[in-house]
Amino acid sequence: MKEIEKTIEEWILFFETEVPKHVTETRWDHIKRVAFYSEELALIHGYEEPKKAYLAGLCHDITKQKKMDIHYELFIEFKVNTEGIPSQALHAYSAPLFINKHFGFFDPEFQSAIQSHTLGNPNPSLLDQIVYAADFLGSDYCQRLQELKDWTIKTKENLHFGIFMKAFKTISLLMEKKEMIHPYTFFTYNFSLQSLKENF
Ligand SMILES: [Fe+2]
Ligand SMILES: [Fe+2]
Repeated sequence: MKEIEKTIEEWILFFETEVPKHVTETRWDHIKRVAFYSEELALIHGYEEPKKAYLAGLCHDITKQKKMDIHYELFIEFKVNTEGIPSQALHAYSAPLFINKHFGFFDPEFQSAIQSHTLGNPNPSLLDQIVYAADFLGSDYCQRLQELKDWTIKTKENLHFGIFMKAFKTISLLMEKKEMIHPYTFFTYNFSLQSLKENF
């Protein structure tokens, strides 16, 4: 008998109990913030399925604390080429595969947004951009800063502000540590900066 498909709301209820089983409490706190910001930014910036944005935020880091073997097993099984993807971004690529494999949920927009939340991508959809910015506002780094309130307001006014800040901070941090920077992150930096300049 074919299982009746769950609605997005039912998947949210499901993952609200499932995700905490895979991450630490601190990571779960971050995830809840990202889900909240994703829905809020979706509503403000006209993404037609704000609950799907919430769900993407809720699931984006589900494999963040998994061992390397788990990521690579999924990439082999789903034939995903992750050549050139830095280790800190592997969880973004494995999370939608993990969810598909273990829970049977698949949605291409959801997959793309989760996959792009660390590096960005050269052709980001509105949902990709929302989750990318939400991951920044919901980060431990932002939560500790006084600027958070101002950055949240600016990201609500213009989504590219949050996108730019995340790409800028990522690049600065990687340069400080003399680490490689993925071209997608440079692209995201240039693309958001260009959009900000056009708007002001
Ligand atoms: Fe992440
Ligand atoms: Fe995250």
